Amino acid sequence: MDSKYDVKEVTWLHPASDPLMKMFNGYRCTLAVIPACELKMFDKIAAHPEGISAARLAEQHSWSSSYTARLLDAQASFGLLKKTLGPDNIGIYHITESGKYMVSDFEGSFDGIFTLFSKVFLKSYSLIPELIKTGDEGDKAHWVLPELQINGSADKQCPQDQSHCTENKKPEGYQAKADKIRCAGQFAGQKPGENERRMYQIMVAQMYPYTDEIIHAFDLSRFKTVVDIGGGQGYLSFALSRGYPDMKITVMDMPHVIKFVREEFRPHDFDKLNVTYLEGDCLKDPIPVASLYIFCKVLHHFTEEKIEYVISKLHEKLPSGGAVLILEDTLSPTRDGPPPSHCFDLMLMARKVGKDRTFPEFASTLERCGFTKIKCILTNPECIYDVIMAIKD
Ligand SMILES: C[S@@+](CC[C@H](N)C(=O)[O-])C[C@H]1O[C@@H](n2cnc3c(N)ncnc32)[C@H](O)[C@@H]1O
Repeated sequence: MDSKYDVKEVTWLHPASDPLMKMFNGYRCTLAVIPACELKMFDKIAAHPEGISAARLAEQHSWSSSYTARLLDAQASFGLLKKTLGPDNIGIYHITESGKYMVSDFEGSFDGIFTLFSKVFLKSYSLIPELIKTGDEGDKAHWVLPELQINGSADKQCPQDQSHCTENKKPEGYQAKADKIRCAGQFAGQKPGENERRMYQIMVAQMYPYTDEIIHAFDLSRFKTVVDIGGGQGYLSFALSRGYPDMKITVMDMPHVIKFVREEFRPHDFDKLNVTYLEGDCLKDPIPVASLYIFCKVLHHFTEEKIEYVISKLHEKLPSGGAVLILEDTLSPTRDGPPPSHCFDLMLMARKVGKDRTFPEFASTLERCGFTKIKCILTNPECIYDVIMAIKD
């Protein structure tokens, strides 16, 4: 550091408390990104590839210039913006490669994750102490959060409301209540469908950086017919179709989901892809014949009985050499890591909509369904997709 003063930089390490400080600081950084997302600051900065000063940005939007500068400086400290010095030492802000992930129309945008974190995830974790104290195993799933009052799209069913709660029998009066309460992530003043769009965008954001690795984790070139069960917005199917042009892929999901996603998530190259949609509940409706069945982030919503039921059915249908591919965020066999998987498992617990499992748990379920060749690729903790493949003899 160039200074007229005697400045020395030191690093003081305290192995016992450093992990706690890292957790605490990570949490604070997350909270400090949220206001920038809500103000769509990353979109606004990205619209100025030449860079923009806090004063000009503030002027364009009638914001406070000094507060804007402080919020932008924080984003620069997180590596989401780069700050250079312009004439008169005025800070000029540019979007960074990481910051591009915060721009709302970027394909793998994280913008929705941070916004949802502030409104819904925090609330979910706050339900846990009461759950632990009462041991309430009731059948009321908490994708519906009472504080999120309906406003506008009461008649629209949200995907979580129906499908993510397949583990739970809906209580008496549930439908009537659904007229008054919106499901998680839907907020006052929000346009209809925004909640669904955001939830499926979050799934895209989490897969986007790893798409290539995921579709090539195993060589899938021999599978010519594929059903992506609970395929949601179809992002994985589209990527598979681009990576394996001979593959004929069906995205199967609940009817209300398919109706929504086929409009909202249609990629620009859809006509060139070998992907079709199918409305159906995999626990009730016929599943088309295929050589590969995929469950990507679906089985954590199901009980063992439901997993065993549907996978046994698929085992019967598969030809020899056919397979089931499961993408899930697995817990370590000793169930003490990795931390992000536990965070997700606790959110499922808080809402009573399922649970995360270990690879050995998945493997023994797959064995009970008749599979003998079971492989697994465990990925780094930041990637929520471990890849399990079970092949029929
Ligand atoms: C967490 S989302 C994952 C979506 C997509 N596979 C992805 O990774 O982005 C779970 C999906 O499973 C679907 N789903 C849940 N139960 C289902 C069932 N019984 N039959 C078909 N789809 C189901 C939900 O509607 C939802 O789209």
